[in-house]
Amino acid sequence: MTENNLTGRVRIAVVIGSVRKPRLADPLAAWLEHELTEIDWLDLDLIDLAAVSLPMQDLQPGGGAASPIAGRLADADGFVFLVPEYNHSFPAPVKNVIDWHFVEWAYKPVAFVGYGASGGIRAVEQLRTVFPELRATTVRESVLIPMAWEHLDATGRFVPPPGTVQALHAMMTELRTWAGALRSIRVPDLVGRT
Ligand SMILES: Cc1cc2nc3c(=O)[nH]c(=O)nc-3n(C[C@H](O)[C@H](O)[C@H](O)COP(=O)(O)O)c2cc1C
Repeated sequence: MTENNLTGRVRIAVVIGSVRKPRLADPLAAWLEHELTEIDWLDLDLIDLAAVSLPMQDLQPGGGAASPIAGRLADADGFVFLVPEYNHSFPAPVKNVIDWHFVEWAYKPVAFVGYGASGGIRAVEQLRTVFPELRATTVRESVLIPMAWEHLDATGRFVPPPGTVQALHAMMTELRTWAGALRSIRVPDLVGRT
């Protein structure tokens, strides 16, 4: 790895994968945003799928002008999906945003903060089988938060259980390494649409 791969700023888009009201994603996203803004090499873009219109009946594979977030995804060097587990998988809006875009994911790393009774592990592991089709790679480290609803204080703020912050930083360090390495192969002729 060259020195350039380990220096400079990295733009990370965090995708909030629940669109419910109310949702546990809110306190978790607030915690995640707080932790990530403390990281000095990182430029953060928080993408809330609840605020993004990507109608399933208008699905436009490839994103582009039809997607209001194609540019934000394209600008990112890597992604963190904040993803709950629904029925032993990931929520439908997560699949929808993945399907709506194509080149925007290519040759970029994807990391996961999962939550659910078992930490969202089944949602995360299933997403790992999807991203290679988009030419994206998923990082080994992850953050899995079992029973996250039991870690809210009296004000509803998420108080991470022991080890969670350390797991997040390990994951982000790996994400940065992959983002730096993959930048060098992210050239237009490799990012085909077919
Ligand atoms: C439709 C639905 C299905 C769910 N299925 C699972 C499940 O299979 N495994 C699990 O651990 N939690 C499951 N849960 C619980 C969610 O993980 C939990 O409610 C979580 O807080 C949802 O995140 P959200 O509030 O940000 O949407 C399910 C929740 C919903 C709404």
